[in-house]
Amino acid sequence: MSRIVLGVAGGVAAYKAALLLRALTEAGHDVRVVPTPGALHFVGAATFEALSGNPVTTDVWSDVPEVAHVRIGQTADLVVVAPATADLLARAAAGRADDLLTATLLTAHCPVVFVPAMHTEMWLHPATQDNVATLRRRGAVVLPPAVGRLTGPDSGPGRLPEPADVAALAHVALTAGADALRADLAGRRVVVSAGGTREPLDPVRYLGNRSSGKQGWALARVAAARGADVTLVAANVDLPAPFGVRVVPVGTAEELRTAMVAEAPDADVVVMTAAVADFRPATVAATKLKKDSASEPGSVPLVRNPDVLAELVTKRPPGQLVVGFAAETGDETGDVLAHARAKLARKGCDLLVVNDVSGGGVFGRPDNAAVVLAADGTATEVPHGTKDAVAAAVWQAVLPRLARPPAAPPGARR
Ligand SMILES: Cc1cc2nc3c(=O)[nH]c(=O)nc-3n(C[C@H](O)[C@H](O)[C@H](O)COP(=O)(O)O)c2cc1C
Repeated sequence: MSRIVLGVAGGVAAYKAALLLRALTEAGHDVRVVPTPGALHFVGAATFEALSGNPVTTDVWSDVPEVAHVRIGQTADLVVVAPATADLLARAAAGRADDLLTATLLTAHCPVVFVPAMHTEMWLHPATQDNVATLRRRGAVVLPPAVGRLTGPDSGPGRLPEPADVAALAHVALTAGADALRADLAGRRVVVSAGGTREPLDPVRYLGNRSSGKQGWALARVAAARGADVTLVAANVDLPAPFGVRVVPVGTAEELRTAMVAEAPDADVVVMTAAVADFRPATVAATKLKKDSASEPGSVPLVRNPDVLAELVTKRPPGQLVVGFAAETGDETGDVLAHARAKLARKGCDLLVVNDVSGGGVFGRPDNAAVVLAADGTATEVPHGTKDAVAAAVWQAVLPRLARPPAAPPGARR
C-alpha cells in the first residue's frame, strides 16, 4: 500500500477527482485528499473524506499539532494534483505556500504529477507554458492535457484525462518514478504494434497466441504521457485505449502488416511488440469445418506469413528507429541471449527487447523483465518490474539514439 496525496484545485473538472480517488483507493492505496479552498466550491469536503477515509483540510491552520503542512508532503510516496488549475501551476512554479496543497508540494520528496485542466487559451498562454516548463525543469511531471469538450460548448486541448487514465499514469510514476513520464518525446511520432494476430481456419476458429498486448499498451501509454503522438496498431487486444493514443484495430498478420506499412513512414520510432503469427492455415474454409463430415481436416497445412519487422526495417526512412521485441526460450542450440543476438542481426533493427518466456511467466502478467540489445553491441538489463517500468526503460534506450530533431512544436496534440 502506498501513501498518495491527491491534490485537487478549483477547476470544474474537480468532480472527476472523486472518481480518481475511488480508483486509487480501490487499487489499495491510502489516499489523503488536499483540496484548495477553490476546489471546495466544486466538490464538498465530505465527499473526499467519505471516499478516502481520511480527514480533509485546505489550510495550514487546521491540525496544527500534526504540523500537517510539512508532514503530509514528507510522508507521501506520490503526489497527484488533478485537476491542476492555471492558478495552482502558477503558485507551485512560484514556490508559494499559501494553502495546505502548495505547502505540501514544497515538502514532498516523492514523484509529483500535475494533471492540468483549463480552457485552451489558459493552457496555451505563455505564462502557463512557462510555469509548466519551470515545474518540469524541477523534476515534476506535468501531463499534457487531453483534447476534447471543455466547459460549455468549447473544445480543444485543456480537458482533464479520464480518471482511469490518470490512475494508470499515477501507477507508472509510483512504480517507475517521475523520470518515466518526462516530457522528452514531445514532437515525436511513434507507432507501436501490440497484441497477438489470429489466423483464421474457418469462420469460427483461428490459430492464435498468448500475447495480451499489455507491454505494447504500456509503451504507448508512457510515450503519450511523455508527449509523443502515438498510434497503436492493436491485434485482438481487449483493453481500453490508453489516454491520448490512437488505436488502429487489426486481426490477422496480413492486416497488421498493411496497417504498420501505412503508419510507419512518417514515424520517428516504430516498435513491434505484437506477436505476429509466423504461419497461417494455407486455406480458410468458407463454412465451419465439421466433425465426421467431408470437411473434417486430417491435418492443417500452414504457409508462412510475411516478416513484418524485416519489411519495416527494409522500408524505413533515414533517421527512423525500429525496435523489435523477442520472446525467446533457451534450447540445446543456445541460450536466450544467443538466440536474441542472432535475431537482432537477422532482422537488422536498431534495438531488440528480449523477454525470456521460458516457463510462461510473461504473457498476460502486469510485470516483466527484459534485456535491451542494441545494434551497436550494447546490452542493457532491465530489472524485473511492471510493464510500465519496462516501457520507461525502453524509451530511455531509444531517446539518445534519435537522430533527427523533433518535428512538431510541443503543446497541443491530437
Ligand atoms: C465555474 C468555474 C470553472 C473554472 N474552471 C477552471 C478550470 O477548469 N481551470 C482553471 O485553471 N481555472 C478554472 N476556474 C478558475 C479558478 O477557479 C480560479 O483561478 C481559482 O483562483 C483557482 O484557485 P485554486 O487553483 O487555488 O484552486 C474556474 C472558475 C469557475 C468559477
